[in-house]
Amino acid sequence: MKKQRVLITGISGFVGSHLADFLLTKKNLEVFGIDLSTAKVDNLENCFNYIKLFSCDLTESISVRKLIKEIKPDKIFHLAGNAFVGDSWSDPQKTFIVNVFGELNILNALRELKIKPWVQIACSSEEYGVVIKSELPVSEQNELRPVSPYAVSKIAQDYLGYQFYKSYGLKVLRTRTFNHIGPRQNDRFVVSNFAKQIALIETGKQKPVIEVGNLNAVRDFTDVRDIVTAYWLCTEKGVPGEIYNICSGKGHKIAEILRILASYSNAKFQIKKDPKRMRPSDIPVLIGENKKFVRRSGWKCRYSLKETLYDTLNYWREKVS
Ligand code: GDD
Repeated sequence: MKKQRVLITGISGFVGSHLADFLLTKKNLEVFGIDLSTAKVDNLENCFNYIKLFSCDLTESISVRKLIKEIKPDKIFHLAGNAFVGDSWSDPQKTFIVNVFGELNILNALRELKIKPWVQIACSSEEYGVVIKSELPVSEQNELRPVSPYAVSKIAQDYLGYQFYKSYGLKVLRTRTFNHIGPRQNDRFVVSNFAKQIALIETGKQKPVIEVGNLNAVRDFTDVRDIVTAYWLCTEKGVPGEIYNICSGKGHKIAEILRILASYSNAKFQIKKDPKRMRPSDIPVLIGENKKFVRRSGWKCRYSLKETLYDTLNYWREKVS
C-alpha cells in the first residue's frame, strides 16, 4: 500500500513536535516537517530519525510552492504561526504577515499545483473574543467578537480556509482550539511560565516571588497530547469546509491553575502582579462546547488537567536543573 505523505508546518514547535511524536504510532505514513530553521530540533528528539525536515519561511511564496511541489502531501497540518497573543499587541504587523500570508501561500500553492490534500488549519478560540455569559459554553455558531490583533489574524486564517474550500474545493478543516498546554510549551504561555518559575524557585535560581498577570481570567485547558489526537481524527473523520471546536468543555480560573501547580511543590513563594503581563484587553471567560467534534470523531481526552500540570512542572524541573 502506498504510504500517506503527511506534512506538518511548524514541526519543531510545541504542537508540531507532539503531533510528529503521535504520528510515529501510525503505520504507513511518511512524515515531512517544515520550520523556519532545521537547527532547532530539541523538541524532535523522539522522532528526528523518522521525519524529513525542511527549512522554509512560509511568508516566501516561491519557496513554499517549490516545497509543496516536491513533497506532494496527502495531508497538511498547518500549525506554524505566531501563537502568543501577547506579541500581537507589540507587533501586530508581524502576526498578520506570518499567520495570514503564511497560510495564503500554502493554499495558493495547492491551487496552482492542482493538488487537493486534506488541510487542517489551526484556528483559535481567541476568535470568539468577548463571549456573553448566556453563550457559554461557546459553540461554533457563536458570533466572533475578537479583542486582540492575534484573534483577528486567526479569523482571517479561518475564513481564508473557508474561501479556498468554497472557491476551489480544497479539503480544508478548521479547528478552533482552546488553550492547550503541556511539556515543551514556550515559557511565555501562562502554565509553562508559572511551572518554570516554580521550578526555578525550587532550585534557588529565582527568589521566592512568582510574577503573574490576570489571575481572574477563566480558560478551557486541554493537554497538547489530546489536541494532536484530535487533529489527526479531524483529518480522518472531519467534513471538508467545517469548523470544529477542540476543547475540554471545562473552565478554570488562572488563579486555580497556580494553586494546583503550587500544591505539587514544597517551595513557598509570594505572588506579585506584574503590570507588563496585563493585556490592553483580555477575554474574561472562554469555555468551549465540543459536542460537534466529539459526535463526529469519537474523540476523548486521556489526560486530566492535574496530570498535565504535573507533567509540565516536571518538564521544567528537568530543564532548569
Ligand atoms: N502568558 C501569561 N503570563 N498569561 C497570563 C499570566 C502570565 O504571567 N498571568 C495571567 N495570564 C492570563 C492571560 O491574561 C490569559 O487570560 C490567560 O492567562 C492565558 O494566557 P496564555 O497562556 O498566554 O494563552 P492565551 O489564552 O492568551 O492564548 C493561548 O490560547 C489560545 C486559544 O485560546 C495560546 O495558546 C493561543 O495560541 C491559542 O490560540
